[in-house]
Amino acid sequence: MKPLLIVANFKSNKTKAEAKNWLDEITKIKDLNLSDKQIIVCPPFTLLDYFKSYIDENSLPIELCAQDISRFPQGAYTGEVNGSQIKEFAEYVLIGHSERRTGFNEDESVLEEKVKMSIDYNLIPIFFVQDESTEIPQGLSIVVYEPPSAISTSPNPVVESPETADEVAKKLKEVQNLNVLYGGSITPGDVRSFTEKSDISGVLVGDASLNAAEFLGIIKNA
Ligand code: PGA
Repeated sequence: MKPLLIVANFKSNKTKAEAKNWLDEITKIKDLNLSDKQIIVCPPFTLLDYFKSYIDENSLPIELCAQDISRFPQGAYTGEVNGSQIKEFAEYVLIGHSERRTGFNEDESVLEEKVKMSIDYNLIPIFFVQDESTEIPQGLSIVVYEPPSAISTSPNPVVESPETADEVAKKLKEVQNLNVLYGGSITPGDVRSFTEKSDISGVLVGDASLNAAEFLGIIKNA
């Protein structure tokens, strides 16, 4: 059976108290059969330390991912979080989410620098592509195919069909050896229709991951 990556992207959500409630509930993950599944959670920077301690203390089968990385090294870059700081807590970094491309003007050259910086610090980039024509930097092993219109918080979300997502995944894999995940409005009810496709290696979940019970349902049904 192919191993599935199931990624929770919290975006700019959750205080520490809310994170504690989520983690207390997610400990039920230990009752699930995860032999063919790998779980990665992307909390905001403010919660990475807390998540790591909680996961270590409770031996939870969860890896951590930062939602961004500075394209600069350590130094005089107010507001930035650099690769060595991330590496203390996480193994992965999200790069190229459509919300960062459009809301924070991150273009291809910035994203390439961020990918390079991740690799320099031994972090694994999880890179988003919005369609088949999105430029994919060198050195990637995981990409997420996520059309912006499929994101649950977009004005009129249109979920991609599993067939189309699988076709796009296949095309992306023809160019480079990649694990391709699908992202966009995933729920416990539809996750399986994506993960059962031969070229899809997992899912990235935004809104539904904020509710621990729902996220457990997604992991279980994937
Ligand atoms: P969604 O978000 O699951 O709420 O659509 C996915 C994402 O944008 O990361």
